[in-house]
Amino acid sequence: MNILVCGGAGYIGSHMVAYLLENGHDVVILDNLQTGHKDSLLGGKLYIGDLKDNEILDKVFTENKIDAVIDFAANSLVGESVENPLKYFDNNIGSTINLLEAMNRHNIKYIVFSSTAATYGEPENIPILEQDKTFPTNPYGESKLAVEKILKWCDKAYGIKYTALRYFNACGAHINGNIGEDHEPESHLIPIILQAALGKREKIMIFGDDYNTEDGTCVRDYVHVSDLASAHLLALKRLKNGGESKIYNLGNGKGFSVKEVVDVARKVTGINIKAEIAARRAGDPATLIASSEKAIKELGWEPKFNSLETIIETAWKWHKNHLNGYEK
Ligand code: UFG
Repeated sequence: MNILVCGGAGYIGSHMVAYLLENGHDVVILDNLQTGHKDSLLGGKLYIGDLKDNEILDKVFTENKIDAVIDFAANSLVGESVENPLKYFDNNIGSTINLLEAMNRHNIKYIVFSSTAATYGEPENIPILEQDKTFPTNPYGESKLAVEKILKWCDKAYGIKYTALRYFNACGAHINGNIGEDHEPESHLIPIILQAALGKREKIMIFGDDYNTEDGTCVRDYVHVSDLASAHLLALKRLKNGGESKIYNLGNGKGFSVKEVVDVARKVTGINIKAEIAARRAGDPATLIASSEKAIKELGWEPKFNSLETIIETAWKWHKNHLNGYEK
């Protein structure tokens, strides 16, 4: 297939591009490089531009015979979204509407959309099922949920078939060690722990140890970024084979506390990473664990990097070899 990956130079997008190339597909990338990195692309044809720009969208769809779209392009910082909700609604929803309009103009009928566990908010049940209540507690999750709803109506009206994939905690790096996670500023747990291991930070702050969990720290479901990539391709193939539009969770179905993640990172790196308890971070639910049974059953998804040791080993390989991330 010839696949357009929007936001393909970002963390998850770049692993998607790598996975598609490894599986023999042609890839076109559209990224404004606002948070993405040119060096994260191991191949494909890059267009630098914004999803809000109709001209570049028409150029991409005219110059390439695109079979399907995978859309990662979004702002994704939960904290920032609370401070600046309009930025998130404008960019995350507005740009996807523009993309869908362009798909319509060019008669493209398949899209896999990057959604999030943040659509659920504070969960009612653990593990979380796709049909559970969605009640986002931040504008980031709200913006993704809004797009899921927009997709539903676009399917009905225009026959655009979609799969929305709700990721839990994306982490790890490509096993080749050449691409990985590089956010500025970094807010995610595993890269922060590994930066502390490398001496780039003095210590890691554990946000709260008084949650209702076994050791008092938050529990999350960590899922390897290359496993997320494999699920996208399976989802696309299912749509191409006539599958209906659907929503799937993507996680490993196993939760690790912040303290456990720090301990595994100490073991993997052999470094006694310093950790200190700090106040809770606003908006963090105590526990988020996915049920991914639906993706496993219906997509035939088989996560390969499902041990936390392996996940952290791959991230460590990337961080050790890219002390300052990608070339800036
Ligand atoms: N944490 C710390 N110290 C840090 C950073 C994080 O203790 O320095 C804790 C957080 O409080 C949280 C856990 O580590 O309990 C994981 O935090 P991350 O920031 O790595 O990830 P989140 O679970 O907050 O967010 C992830 C994605 C979001 C998505 C969300 C869905 O990064 O995009 O899951 O709930 F919206």
